[in-house]
Amino acid sequence: MSVVIPVKLPHTDYEVTIGAGMLDRLGALMGDRAGISNKKVLLVSNPIIFDHYGERAIASMTAAGYDVETCILPAGEQHKHLGSIQQVYDEAIAHRLERKSTMVALGGGVIGDMTGFAAATWLRGISFVQVPTSLLAMVDASIGGKTGVNHPQGKNLIGAFYQPKLVLIDPEVLETLPVRELRAGMAEVIKYGVIWDPELFEMLERAERLDEFEAVRPLLTEILRRSCQAKVEVVSQDEKESGIRAILNYGHTIAHAVESLTGYGKVNHGEAVGIGMVAAGAIARELDWWDGANCPRQDDIIAKTQLPTKLPSKLTDLDKIIDVLSLDKKVEDGKVRFILPQEIGKVEITSDVPKSALRTVLQEMTN
Ligand code: GLY
Repeated sequence: MSVVIPVKLPHTDYEVTIGAGMLDRLGALMGDRAGISNKKVLLVSNPIIFDHYGERAIASMTAAGYDVETCILPAGEQHKHLGSIQQVYDEAIAHRLERKSTMVALGGGVIGDMTGFAAATWLRGISFVQVPTSLLAMVDASIGGKTGVNHPQGKNLIGAFYQPKLVLIDPEVLETLPVRELRAGMAEVIKYGVIWDPELFEMLERAERLDEFEAVRPLLTEILRRSCQAKVEVVSQDEKESGIRAILNYGHTIAHAVESLTGYGKVNHGEAVGIGMVAAGAIARELDWWDGANCPRQDDIIAKTQLPTKLPSKLTDLDKIIDVLSLDKKVEDGKVRFILPQEIGKVEITSDVPKSALRTVLQEMTN
């Protein structure tokens, strides 16, 4: 059984399909649901994911009549740069990809973002399909069309909004995801509960454990359905992030400062978002934006996922954190933008957080 979430944008429509075992239906869905008739496909993956799922993906596409070639890029955020995109172009040339051919991303957010960017720019734009294999990519990166690579001076500075033709999510592939990455993906799931979906929040609140695959498995389809639905509803209202889409950055203001000050990779993105959500919740409490009793409710879910709720022990210089915040991409007219909760399921964007409130919260979060 599968769940289908339609994405309707002014210039394109596509579907997010979620279902156990759907990886074996990839080829059929590319034809039947995404209308991809040109037979040439370039499958982009990394060696780890390809070892686990490459053959199944290829078998499914081949059975549906597609002629599949592969491009295997090294794994890891450190390879998310233009050099890897060049590698995809080289394979596209070697395999004579045409205007109507397709690139398929089989991997986590790094592979999805890079494949999408290569597809957006190859021959001025060819079709692409997202087959996310990490929880973070399933609930966030694969939906909504943000594609791109890092520049040595900053993350995701080069990119394009470019929508896939299909997003296919097979929850069973999470069985092989390292547990730290599963928890990182849960941070984004918790985010949707706080910013959009109170029922998702309460479901997470009721769960005994959220820190490993077997504990999460019974809830997985519902977690994915609700998270993807939330992302789709937000993106459908504001594809290019000129307004409401910014609420998806809940917890990300402090998270980016933590990631940059600890050196990217030491604290992963989801862990940093966990810390950032604790901070945003506490700032909202300091400013009386929401009932302070909601803070421990949110923080308990984060702790239950075994995500950190305090700043890393080496981050003790609060002035430095505040300085880094003012360099964030989301700064407008010199003011740091925060997404703060008003109640469970509702947030607002503000540039008016007094430094004193920020300092109080950071102080209580130091280890
Ligand atoms: N990851 C945030 C967004 O897609 O807008």
